[in-house]
Amino acid sequence: MKILLDTANLEKIREYVDSFPIVGVTTNPTILTREGGSDPVDTLIRIRQVLGKDRELHVQLTETTYKKMIEEAYIITRILGDNTYIKVPVSDVGLKVTKKLTEDGINVTQTAILTATQAMLAAEAGAKYVAPYVSRLDNIMGDGISTIADISEIFVNGGYETKILAASFKTAKQVLDTALAGAETATVSVDIFKKLYEHPITSSSIDGFTNDWTNTYGDTLLELFKKVNPNSHFGY
Ligand code: E4P
Repeated sequence: MKILLDTANLEKIREYVDSFPIVGVTTNPTILTREGGSDPVDTLIRIRQVLGKDRELHVQLTETTYKKMIEEAYIITRILGDNTYIKVPVSDVGLKVTKKLTEDGINVTQTAILTATQAMLAAEAGAKYVAPYVSRLDNIMGDGISTIADISEIFVNGGYETKILAASFKTAKQVLDTALAGAETATVSVDIFKKLYEHPITSSSIDGFTNDWTNTYGDTLLELFKKVNPNSHFGY
């Protein structure tokens, strides 16, 4: 399952995108008000510069009427370039906007998805992604993971090319269950991303290997090899 970062924090994006297999960044109006500084347009342009043109940048509309939403989508796409996805909240106007933008060749992520039927209609309207909100569903006694499983089944049955971009995670286990339920992509905070690879036993195992080696040989394997081949040069 591909992973995007759900943040507008430029420093974190720079740090994580350079070092980890992350295919893009998602933002929403709340994230931008929290992390986007006083000039959200400048922040989004900088995020695009950090991401480069091949990674995905998902930006949510702030307009709420059809004509203005279309206009906003056009300008966002024009300024932020290829691989920009317009996040359109699902609603009657949202579905109309998705249909129109798709016909015009603009990538849409239908967001704020809470039910499988919303996702089905978004796929029919041509959305490239649907973004179901796992924690927001779980918090109202819904079942985020089974909703994702339902959406996945509907997309397979209907032969839709629309992908699931699962969102709104509070635990790493939700991310695992999302992957098992058939989602192709998920967007996570930096904190959740770390939890996907950190494990206390992994850390203690690594410490054990390092201690055993150092106590026996002193030098690392690199240092020992360099003593044997002091003039070797490698193209790294
Ligand atoms: C991403 O597309 C969503 O906007 C985001 O993940 C919502 O997350 P939250 O429920 O933690 O605010």
